[in-house]
Amino acid sequence: MCGIVGYVGEKDAKSVLLSGLKKLEYRGYDSCGIGTIVGGKFLVNKNTNRIDSLEEEVKETPTSKIGVGHTRWATHGGATVENAHPHVSNNKKVLVVHNGIIENYARLREMLKAKGYKFYSDTDTEVIPNLIDLYNKGDFMQAVKKAMDMLEGSFALGIINLDDPNTLVAAKRNSPLIVGIGDAESFIASDFSAILKYTDKISILENDEYAVLKNGGVYFYDSELNPCGKDFKFIDMKDEATEKNGYAHFMLKEINENTITIKNTVSEYIKDDEIVFDLKLTEEDIKNINQIHIVACGTAMHAGLNGKNIIETLTRIPVNVEVASEFRYKNPILKENDLVIFISQSGETADTVACLELVKERGIKYMSMVNVKESTIDRMSENVIYTKAGPEIAVASTKAYVAQVCLIDLFAIYLAKILKTADKKYLKQLTYELKTMHAAVQTVLEHPEVYAEYGKSIASELDMFYLGRGLDYYVALEGSLKLKEISYIHSEACQFGELKHGPIALIEEGTNVIAICTSKKLLGKVVSNIKEVKARGAKVLLITNQTQVPHEVYDERMEIPHIDELLSPILTVIPLQLIAYYATVEKGLDVDKPRNLAKSVTVE
Ligand code: G6P
Repeated sequence: MCGIVGYVGEKDAKSVLLSGLKKLEYRGYDSCGIGTIVGGKFLVNKNTNRIDSLEEEVKETPTSKIGVGHTRWATHGGATVENAHPHVSNNKKVLVVHNGIIENYARLREMLKAKGYKFYSDTDTEVIPNLIDLYNKGDFMQAVKKAMDMLEGSFALGIINLDDPNTLVAAKRNSPLIVGIGDAESFIASDFSAILKYTDKISILENDEYAVLKNGGVYFYDSELNPCGKDFKFIDMKDEATEKNGYAHFMLKEINENTITIKNTVSEYIKDDEIVFDLKLTEEDIKNINQIHIVACGTAMHAGLNGKNIIETLTRIPVNVEVASEFRYKNPILKENDLVIFISQSGETADTVACLELVKERGIKYMSMVNVKESTIDRMSENVIYTKAGPEIAVASTKAYVAQVCLIDLFAIYLAKILKTADKKYLKQLTYELKTMHAAVQTVLEHPEVYAEYGKSIASELDMFYLGRGLDYYVALEGSLKLKEISYIHSEACQFGELKHGPIALIEEGTNVIAICTSKKLLGKVVSNIKEVKARGAKVLLITNQTQVPHEVYDERMEIPHIDELLSPILTVIPLQLIAYYATVEKGLDVDKPRNLAKSVTVE
């Protein structure tokens, strides 16, 4: 979703802003722009192409020491140059970039119109510079505060003003914004990656706080504009981690990083063959758990479904998995001894954050699994465990999913050990398999040509089916999502047993079906189901580690290593990630930045 970067310092602002915007591209956007101050006036450049073309456009423009940049993911109004940010007040004195949504913008727009203000865009943002201008009676910060007090919704703002051309003001409510400080220069950004090239010293702005960046320093104020001290800390992340390092795409790099991701996640929590989590949940709390709710969105929700299977199997605690955007509006039934687990790669997904607030308010125990340290969910949670996937740049999540599944597997084993609900030896074996999982994953990654060939073969298809039972179905959901989000091939995941209740009507000569089978117990049933689609002309790719599948039921087969069935999603998902990747490459589409999608969904 939208990205903000801002700069005040001795460097040429536009080059800092463009470099930051390139790092924010991964969040998903459909237009971009920068605004600087040159010769006492704003210089604004915006376009509806990629940052590269904005860079080309501003190549010859004069340098400046202050500016803000923006990538826009359209919400109010189409992806046009007029709607792209920055937006400027009618008198051309206040310039704003904005992330998030102003919920009461229509009312504010009418109020401003009645006072003679004119609007050139369809955005909710355009009210902000005009509101600030309306309230500006000489004290600019008071005007910003007055405007902030009027705004409803979630937003992060970067503001510059011609009356004080060396100062950048930042403010936020329910949308992330960080402040960075370097050597006589300062920055604002939606996330670390945008400014890591220049500084790793950052501070996180809290709701209704203000940051004023000037003279190489940063001054913080609380919601009442009283000065407030805030610490800067060093972020343990290298700029190179957000580079492609020789891979054609971030997605391919990240799929190949599945091995190291698993190694890092598992080794963080297995100490001397024991799983150790530093949680404030006591053994007593765990013994009292009545029900677990897993709340997440997208791929993270799919990881949660895997969690449901393994937690229920090992502990017999019922697990309810909910999409965050549904959970928050349904008045969820939460009881005193329930535990809610939030899973999020970014730690910023608006609906997941809102659910966390709801659960916190109700006083129910909760914990979070996040990838990005210092993200909103990380900071809001007393109990957090981390996926160690490192920065994930491709919009389609791959290594973060694998890390989430690993982490939830570890957590399930940890619970079962405390609750004594599973055989000790079996839990030890699962722990060992997780410890050595990276090697098994490496073998799946070893022959990319196999996935490339299959990916190519389906690139011109219009429809695909992904079938499985139990855990294999949950992986099918994720495989199907991967394919549709980047290749735009329509695909559907279906439980084998449900085929006959509808979807089989769509199977005809040549329909492509990917069947996943890792369960010895269900093998017979699955073979019969595959025969049913085969009999109707389907072309079947079987992904399995079972040796007993008769070869006439499939057209092609991909082997994954033997592993305990409960842990199998970590392996079966990898061919599916690669198939989606290669099908997309074959179609010549932008693998890392699929249309309409955003990496970090910071609006509802
Ligand atoms: C977006 C991303 C997905 C991600 C989902 C949840 O839709 O494109 O890859 O799974 O948000 O994001 P989170 O950061 O909360 O895991």
